[in-house]
Amino acid sequence: MQDQEEILTFTEECEVAVTVNGQRYERRVPVRLLLSDFLRHDLHLTGTHVGCEHGVCGCCTVLCNGEAVRACLMFAVQADNMFLTTIEGMAGTRSELHPIQQAFMEKHGLQCGFCTSGIIMSVHAMLHENPDPSEEEIREGLSGNICRCTGYQNIVEAVKLAAERLRQAPSEVE
Ligand code: FES
Ligand code: FES
Repeated sequence: MQDQEEILTFTEECEVAVTVNGQRYERRVPVRLLLSDFLRHDLHLTGTHVGCEHGVCGCCTVLCNGEAVRACLMFAVQADNMFLTTIEGMAGTRSELHPIQQAFMEKHGLQCGFCTSGIIMSVHAMLHENPDPSEEEIREGLSGNICRCTGYQNIVEAVKLAAERLRQAPSEVE
C-alpha cells in the first residue's frame, strides 16, 4: 500500500514558472523532472550538457538566481519563480561572445567542448564573487568541473584573461 502511494506521488505533476535568459516560461511538469532535463527537453536549451547525472562532472552547471548550481541535482519544480541563466544567455542579445567565451576561444580553453558550457557558467559565478582570483583560487573554483580533454592549463589561462578584461568592464558579470 505504501509503495502504491509512493508511486502515485512520483507521477504527480505541477506547474512551474521560471525566467530563463530573460524569458519567462510556464509549464506543467512531473514533480520528479530534473532541471537539466527540463532545460534540454522542455525548453530546448541543449547547451546545458548532461554527463554523470549525479553532481560530479559539473557539465550541467547553470546560474540560479546568480548562483552556480548543478541542474542535474535539482528538480525543475525547485526552480519555480527563479531566474536562470544558461550558456545560451551568456552573450545576451549581442552578436559578439561574452568576454568569458571570447577568452576561452582566444586561449584555446576547450577541445571537444562538452564540459565548456558548465565551466563557463562556473567561471561566471566565480568572477562575480572574486574578480581577481589567484591561479590557485581559479583551480579551486574549477575543481567541481571535470574536463577530459584539455589538461586544464589553457582553461586557467582563459579565466585569467577573462578576469582581467572583466575588471575593466565589471557590468558584464552582474
Ligand atoms: S551531469 Fe550534473 S554534475 Fe554531471
Ligand atoms: S573540452 Fe572536452 S571535456 Fe573539456
